[in-house]
Amino acid sequence: EKGGFDHFMLKEIFEQPQTIFDCMRGRLNAVNGTITMAGIQQYAEQIINANRIIIIACGTSWHAGLVAEYIFEELCRINVEVEYASEFRYRNPIINKGDVILAVSQSGETADTLVAIEKAKEKGAIILGVVNVVGSSIARISHGGAYTHAGPEIGVASTKAFTAQLVVLTMIALKIAYIKGSIDENRYKKLLLELDAIPEKVAWILNHHEQIKTIAQKYKDARDFLYLGRGYNFPVALEGALKLKEISYIHAEGYPAAEMKHGPIALVDEQLPVVFIASRDAFHEKIISNMQEIKARKGKVIGIITEGDETSKALCDDFISIPEADEIVAPMLAVVPLQLLSYYIGVAKDCNVDQPRNLAKSVTVE
Ligand code: M6R
Repeated sequence: EKGGFDHFMLKEIFEQPQTIFDCMRGRLNAVNGTITMAGIQQYAEQIINANRIIIIACGTSWHAGLVAEYIFEELCRINVEVEYASEFRYRNPIINKGDVILAVSQSGETADTLVAIEKAKEKGAIILGVVNVVGSSIARISHGGAYTHAGPEIGVASTKAFTAQLVVLTMIALKIAYIKGSIDENRYKKLLLELDAIPEKVAWILNHHEQIKTIAQKYKDARDFLYLGRGYNFPVALEGALKLKEISYIHAEGYPAAEMKHGPIALVDEQLPVVFIASRDAFHEKIISNMQEIKARKGKVIGIITEGDETSKALCDDFISIPEADEIVAPMLAVVPLQLLSYYIGVAKDCNVDQPRNLAKSVTVE
């Protein structure tokens, strides 16, 4: 059942080239320049005319929502808010008729997310689900949406569901931007091709897993980790830190790299590994200077960098390369080494990686 892998988590990480492909199959046609998603298409007008989109989720799914916020705002020029379901539901949120809610959930059973969308539905919002489990409660209560089609995820730590969420949310943003006319035709076509190339690029990263295992051995006894990223990669930093905490029980924090100066930099000493999600993008020079700041304080820099980026490499104590990609799709690649890093550290520490202590696969209590 684990298909020759030691753990479900590893199996699911390695399934990603296939699950990402499955998630685009029959939907994305890069040659014709089309994205087919009936459950979104139906609500396209409402989405375009919405005052705002509210993305509601918990945990890893919330991180996917944060990436989507950046993508939607950039490509669709629609106002987006991302909310923790638990916070959203317990205040008296302002929802106007015609607001569009995107509920993101692997299980489709997370209690807080479910109640949050029930409330919003009563107030007249349109609910669109981005859900993995077919026929789950969140899928049923939603007006429309799109399944992630990642297949059953057994490991408590979400891996393949996260990358599938990123793919679906990106396809939704592209579809809406195209209908709205807020994206340039060339950029649209380029991004379709970029998505198309993701499974192959993820497979490339997975082929380099031995190198990540070596890095895991080197840092497994660290007491704390810091994860830093900017822009589209900021939520990837949060996700990397969450994966490490839950799998290895090492304290880890994710931050937008520029926030470091506002407090967390006080933590930096020669003991502290700092993981930079530093793939080449519009913010690259900025993140390089953040890396220099950590080096100057003797922190250990572990970089997730674009293949061939010698400038970043020179600043890293250790690095993991990922293939070149447009910044919008880069999180789908950058997260994969972070999943593997936490997996290998967890295994090296003899942790129960498939079922970390105190955690449940779906949180059906409030
Ligand atoms: O099933 P959901 O996506 O609604 O679950 C939300 C979170 O409980 C979940 O993403 C959790 O954070 C992950 N299992 C962590 O790896």
